[in-house]
Amino acid sequence: HDERTFVMAKPDAVQRGLTGEIVTRLEERGLKLVGAKFMQIDQELAEQHYGEHEDKPFFDELVEFITSGPVMAMVWQGADATRQVRQMMGATDPADAAPGTIRGDYGLDLGQNIIHGSDHEDEGANEREIELFFDEDELVEYTRSD
Ligand code: CMP
Repeated sequence: HDERTFVMAKPDAVQRGLTGEIVTRLEERGLKLVGAKFMQIDQELAEQHYGEHEDKPFFDELVEFITSGPVMAMVWQGADATRQVRQMMGATDPADAAPGTIRGDYGLDLGQNIIHGSDHEDEGANEREIELFFDEDELVEYTRSD
């Protein structure tokens, strides 16, 4: 089914000049970019975004990293977009991510893993994350010819 999903090029992707590569991969796969924001995440937004990990031992590290530099927050649309993006990202730990996936090709470690995408096994996570980062009027509707 046609849906929207939230994707973020993390600070390590921006620092290493991989933002364009991420956009290109998702575009070439046929997903449609409907929102994008180059931004610095503040403490409050980071804690909200990663709220489900609040009790994890790596929570502080996670918040520190995601606020350490600019990110590119994006909304992509397409058939089963959430699951498609998860497949293209590869396993959370780049060491386990298959070659050909974004993390498998570029990720360094579990923290610096290049990209975030909404969890497809967490019902509604995509819409919750989109809402956290974007106002509805920042998302664009158009037809992609391909
Ligand atoms: P992400 O998809 O952004 O969602 C939560 C993030 O937590 C995950 O990617 C990893 O970057 C990070 N993460 C998960 N497990 C650990 C861990 N054990 N140590 C540090 N970071 C972790």
